[in-house]
Amino acid sequence: MEIEKVDDAVTRRIRAITNRVAGLKQNELYFYNLPISELRGGARVLVGGREMGMYASYSYLGLIGHPRINQAAKEAVDKYGTGTHGVRSLAGSLPVHQELEETIAEFKGTESAITYSSGYVTNLTVVSTLVGRGDYVISDKLNHASIVDGCLMSGAKFLRFFHNDMEALEARLQQIESDAAKLVVVDAVFSMDGDIIDFPGIVGLCKKYNAWLMVDEAHSLGVLGKSGRGIEEYFGITDGIDIKMGTLSKTIPSAGGYIAAKTDIADYLRHASRAYIFSAALPPAQAAAANEAFKVILDEPWRVQSLCANTRQFIEGMQARGFDTMQTETAIVPVLCGSDEEAFMMTAASQQRGVFVLPVVSPAVPPGAARLRATITAAHEPTEIEHAMNLMEAAGKEVGILS
Ligand SMILES: Cc1ncc(COP(=O)(O)O)c(C=O)c1O
Repeated sequence: MEIEKVDDAVTRRIRAITNRVAGLKQNELYFYNLPISELRGGARVLVGGREMGMYASYSYLGLIGHPRINQAAKEAVDKYGTGTHGVRSLAGSLPVHQELEETIAEFKGTESAITYSSGYVTNLTVVSTLVGRGDYVISDKLNHASIVDGCLMSGAKFLRFFHNDMEALEARLQQIESDAAKLVVVDAVFSMDGDIIDFPGIVGLCKKYNAWLMVDEAHSLGVLGKSGRGIEEYFGITDGIDIKMGTLSKTIPSAGGYIAAKTDIADYLRHASRAYIFSAALPPAQAAAANEAFKVILDEPWRVQSLCANTRQFIEGMQARGFDTMQTETAIVPVLCGSDEEAFMMTAASQQRGVFVLPVVSPAVPPGAARLRATITAAHEPTEIEHAMNLMEAAGKEVGILS
């Protein structure tokens, strides 16, 4: 017998989302959770039986399906099977985990590295293991949700500063008593806007005020710097970050998250962070795939160069067609639409023409700043990009975003 729930806050919350989703589906404006049934080449996908150009991928260097990476994963399955014997601290550690951590440390120029089972969990557990009650954690207003959740979970005093505004950050740092422990956390590239943190500014302030600096490189690994090593290579500053965080699910075509840092910091996290101690190890195939991917990035430097050229072509081309791409300088290219409704309509019109892009709407972005979040990869051909921009221009005119 089904038990009827009383009408409380939980049922109301569930109903609100259910109704919103149902309304969008009814109007054929629901675009989430669509299965991609086939990858066709690096930059084309089959969605709902239709082939489209892929402009919603985080595989920035086009490494999904790379033969060397696939082979590494297959060999790991043959050797170790599909799972581990539990958490890393007990029976879950394999040589592939150790190798991966050594590879990451080398790639990021640190003494050591530690991996977790997702990027989200990495931020959650690391921020809340580093700081706690009585400490301060200071976060850019546009930081990723996983950082925000880590800050809230930590119990430290949580201060936020205006996006990428170094005067606002300094005002926050001045407000804290000088002997208190303070951690500043920022994204290197912001996931909704594609802009880059003022890295020299933030490094200078953290040094001046004796604050720890943690930088999330989810969208800069493989994207920034001549060889794709990230934000430090891009700015030519090598000793600025205490805790270098990244994901293994974007440029690196696997799953997981990492921290690259000095040995004592990595060892501390290995013995104190709950997501390492109480959650199972990365599956061997994912660890081996990630390990090989870092090597492919260095062996195939043309990928970073292509990504850079493709990004420039797309941003300049979209701006020339009259789109507002905000402050982006990277492979995440917001295409400002305005209302949520306009973003949904623009998505539909683009997808109907064969361009697979997705909308980002409130509350993920402020009301009135709904957008498409287009992404560019090294796998796109310049002619494909030109074609996609023409199709999006036609879509923009149809829905009234362009005149
Ligand atoms: C900036 C940032 N950090 C962390 C994450 C979480 O990474 P993962 O998807 O690997 O859990 C994301 C994912 O979108 C992200 O954009």
